[in-house]
Amino acid sequence: MSRKPIIAGNWKMNLLQSEAKSVFEGVKNFVKDYTAVELPTIVIAPVFTSISAVQSVECTCGCGGKKIAIAGQNCHWESSGAFTGEISVEMLKDAGCDYVIIGHSERRQYFSETDEMINKKAKAILRGGLIPIVCCGETLEQREAGVTDSWIAGQIKNALDGISSEDIAKSVIAYEPIWAIGTGKTCDADEANRVIAMIRNVVKEIAGNEAGDAIRILYGGSVKPSTIEEQMSKSDIDGALIGGASLKAESLNEIIEKTMKLSLVH
Ligand code: PGA
Repeated sequence: MSRKPIIAGNWKMNLLQSEAKSVFEGVKNFVKDYTAVELPTIVIAPVFTSISAVQSVECTCGCGGKKIAIAGQNCHWESSGAFTGEISVEMLKDAGCDYVIIGHSERRQYFSETDEMINKKAKAILRGGLIPIVCCGETLEQREAGVTDSWIAGQIKNALDGISSEDIAKSVIAYEPIWAIGTGKTCDADEANRVIAMIRNVVKEIAGNEAGDAIRILYGGSVKPSTIEEQMSKSDIDGALIGGASLKAESLNEIIEKTMKLSLVH
């Protein structure tokens, strides 16, 4: 089973248009020497107002792939209507997005996003032909109380409820322990791999072995150029969702380069 690695940058509420453009240009310049087949899947999630400033980069080698794809950081499940401040999947697609991050712990914590809402968003994203990046993760208290696995299994089952195996197979999950996000503390790579293998088994239970083997599951939480090689060398970690280290082209490029070298070796 070969799963193409994904390197996804989550810019959160950072970078003005000119700054976003300049980081994006830095990544674009780096990837220009490679084809989409050689590169990992690269996804960048800017703030909505910068989506038009950074545009997805198609590969010119004829492989039909994209060298850089764009993601929304959130969406609503309705296609339009009286939902002040929200954005629909159709709008993200119209702006050039291929992916949407949903269920990030910051949205769950500060904007009361529930599993039920995340499930509705995942369905809307797949209906619209985009790919959801579904985030999950435990707090430090939950980890210390020994409920990490049951908590995350519940988040995944709820998020994917009622979605076909075929759609689950093309979705992406990001395991992001909350205590590792933006703290500089990465989860031990073996432990992250163990949790991700557990998530894969949950997916197999609900959607079958084929979907479980196909779905790409990322690790997120203080990923840096110095941590990516160990993380990517683990059997079940298919890539990374990166916050802080994706805000500078140099560090994002280093992460892409290291991932590419490892996947060429495997
Ligand atoms: P971080 O953020 O890399 O800054 O820890 C990761 C995320 O929240 O997606």
